Amino acid sequence: MSKLWGGRFAKSTDIMVEEFTSSISFDNRLYKEDIAGSIAHAKMLAKCDIIASDEAELIINGLKGIQTDIEAGNFTFEIGLEDIHMNIEKRLTERIGPVGGKLHTARSRNDQVALDTHMYVKRELVKIGELLADLEQAILETAQKNKDVIMPGYTHLQRAQPILFAHHMLAYFFMLIRDFGRLKGVWERADIMPLGAGALAGTTFPIDRHFVAQELNFGAVYDNSLDAVSDRDYILEFMSFASILMMHLSRLSEEFILWSSAEFQFIELDDAHCTGSSIMPQKKNPDVSELVRGKTGRVYGNLMALLTVAKGLPLAYNKDLQEDKEGLFDTIDTVKFSLSIYAAMLRGIKVNSSRMLNTLRHDFSNATDMADYLVKQGLPFRQAHEVVGKSVRYCIEQGKTLTDMSIDEFKTFSPLFSDDILEAITIETCVAARNSYGGTSSEQVELAIGRGKTELSNQHSALDTYRKNIL
Ligand code: ARG
Repeated sequence: MSKLWGGRFAKSTDIMVEEFTSSISFDNRLYKEDIAGSIAHAKMLAKCDIIASDEAELIINGLKGIQTDIEAGNFTFEIGLEDIHMNIEKRLTERIGPVGGKLHTARSRNDQVALDTHMYVKRELVKIGELLADLEQAILETAQKNKDVIMPGYTHLQRAQPILFAHHMLAYFFMLIRDFGRLKGVWERADIMPLGAGALAGTTFPIDRHFVAQELNFGAVYDNSLDAVSDRDYILEFMSFASILMMHLSRLSEEFILWSSAEFQFIELDDAHCTGSSIMPQKKNPDVSELVRGKTGRVYGNLMALLTVAKGLPLAYNKDLQEDKEGLFDTIDTVKFSLSIYAAMLRGIKVNSSRMLNTLRHDFSNATDMADYLVKQGLPFRQAHEVVGKSVRYCIEQGKTLTDMSIDEFKTFSPLFSDDILEAITIETCVAARNSYGGTSSEQVELAIGRGKTELSNQHSALDTYRKNIL
């Protein structure tokens, strides 16, 4: 295979080296960005009188033809041509003749690949933002549909205080809201245009970088050419955003796995979202949740891999940087799949409200409320804690719960108890009483849902703006 850079070489490339250095097997994903970037570059070259406008027209039509060929499956990517950039440029010259060779004026593959990847990340961010917003919507719907369901709240996976199931779901909703905030940060740094940095130092031609930025809907242009070609921060930020998002989905997965077990029986996952066992006929396994939990590991791995690749690199471009792409693409695919499948799964879950409530009828999740009752009668909290602790021990010995005690039994622990204590520690009272801002009472959960809807609609407006600025 004759190389675009073959002039300096007397020997042809070792076939193993060709295979090892080639990135076309994965960077062919960037074809659309590569072609759009080249079209903008060609327009700019003509506008700045670096090439003639009829030459630019030939180049642009040639590039459009190549895009049609690729999309029709009529383009063979060659390993010998290393990457997407040289595969397209070589074909361009084959199609339109030597004028195709003018396209690479005032440009290097170093700024070209950076441009393509920036554009690709922007495009994928919009899709991921849409999927994220849809999952948030699915969580809101689940919370609203089950707004009266009470469940045990946990710390240390030991029952702690009763909460609304909706409140528990909303905790995930607000995590995802923060994820969206991080996505906006990634967008800002992806939205900087690197082309025109050349190989590393800029170019001798009178180019117009801001024109290219405008053509391709970039909000900013890199200020430093060395930084432009060697910056992978926006990919690392994307991977960090993705890692934290996956961590959230993984925590939710862990809960779904526990909750759908025979031990908990808090939820039932739809048959469509579970799989069976090849040997045990009774099994219905929460594979989706397990895989999301498992795939979180590879998303972290991709982040660690690129952080490690980047840490020792001298400025500016080094071939090591080609290692950014497989992890990036894999992270994008994993996050998109996980978000879509979770939204679907969530919309199909059945919530077993009577089971959740029943568990609370046989435990001491109302103990804090009993202590709070005494505090409201004037007892210092520490002493109230002690009184209730003793009552709990007594009940455990007697094989009963706090509400099984008679008023006389309550009074043996403190004279401050009166008849209204039983009402003060029903499960429903415990939930309704936690009416502090952000708490679990129905009133607070309603308010939180309202705030959530506002956040969600702000996200949709941000996505509308982003959509106007992608390919
Ligand atoms: N395929 C390369 C990459 O992904 C493109 C840039 C190559 N530049 C170079 N000087 N070898 O990083």
